Amino acid sequence: MFENIAESRSDPLLQLIADYAADTRPDKIDLGVGVFKDENGQTPVLASVKAAEQRLVQDQESKSYVGMLGDLSFGRAVSELVLGSDPASGRLTSLQTPGGCGALRLLFETVKLARPDAIVWLPSPGWANHPAIVDGVGLKFETYPYYDPTTSNLRFDDMREHLQGLSINDVVLLHGCCHNPTGANLTPEQWDEVAELAVERGFLPFVDLAYQGFGTGLDADAYGARRLATRVPELLIAYSCSKNFAIYRDRTGAALTLSAGTDNAKRILAQMTRIARADYSMPPDHGAAVVSTILHDESLRAQWMQELEAMQQRLSGIRAGVSAAFRQRLGNDHFDFVATQEGMFSLLGLAPEQVARLRDEHAIYMAGDSRINIAGLSEAQIPVFVEAAANVL
Ligand SMILES: Cc1ncc(COP(=O)(O)O)c(C=O)c1O
Repeated sequence: MFENIAESRSDPLLQLIADYAADTRPDKIDLGVGVFKDENGQTPVLASVKAAEQRLVQDQESKSYVGMLGDLSFGRAVSELVLGSDPASGRLTSLQTPGGCGALRLLFETVKLARPDAIVWLPSPGWANHPAIVDGVGLKFETYPYYDPTTSNLRFDDMREHLQGLSINDVVLLHGCCHNPTGANLTPEQWDEVAELAVERGFLPFVDLAYQGFGTGLDADAYGARRLATRVPELLIAYSCSKNFAIYRDRTGAALTLSAGTDNAKRILAQMTRIARADYSMPPDHGAAVVSTILHDESLRAQWMQELEAMQQRLSGIRAGVSAAFRQRLGNDHFDFVATQEGMFSLLGLAPEQVARLRDEHAIYMAGDSRINIAGLSEAQIPVFVEAAANVL
């Protein structure tokens, strides 16, 4: 049977990881992999997470199945983190999922049930796994203009014009904050415009919030999701705790839906539960139990917020350092955008040959589209990196 399986296209990012691992040069720099790293290149367990885990080890009385919706206290806490202290009760549903990707998959499956012919609009450029997930559930997707890598500017005028042409058959995926791969985000005013366009045109906004707290702060990073929630009748949100709690491997996320009334909400939840049951049945418990423990305990919550802020500050510090070093080395403002963008990623706007030269001549690894993980750099590596990049320009 299996001789009939076609060769799978290898994921370029996995190839990058393998190439980096095989490189024996001692000063190699990895800007490819999408995890936060500290100044020493480590991705440690947060102290707040360790403390919550210790409590769980001590207090947890059973490892029986969590319910179909996952940990309800986790769902409530995440809904509040995203939508603020007064999430629209009755219209809101939340379901714990295996990571943000699990939430994306489940929500797109739900769209497919409701509107099999819907077209999903993804930002261009965007995150490579979005088309894979949308395609995987059998929905059609297209792209809308978002960012111009040649000028390093948002293409908001083009985006607005594009959204003006959409209607009820369309689903628009928006990165809630810290856009991957560009780091370029909508301003609050632009979010307001998108929300009004969604009301006028009737398209369904779908927010992917995978980096809350890595941009400007927990509340500011949720601005878009909150604005949409107050304006539109229906909204989907895929949430990931992988980055902001640094619990990548614990696969912790949530699928939130906002619909026009309690009846719709009940139907959506019943269908999502059914899909999940046939897919992976129930979500893993550990990560969600950790998150819930942290968010429901005043001192653990305060500790986590401090740790999150430290991660955010490291990112903005490296961003400022990189753009200042480029300014000094090149004598121009070409790379100033690195400092104004937010989150883990920026697109340098290099050609594939330049990316290859950085790898071959300088042992600096990044994705083929010149996306860099800002957290892959230490302060000390900034001058080395900027000198190498200047050499291939
Ligand atoms: C834009 C975006 N959405 C969602 C995710 C989901 O992450 P996970 O499934 O690891 O929680 C990621 C992770 O890299 C991401 O970059």
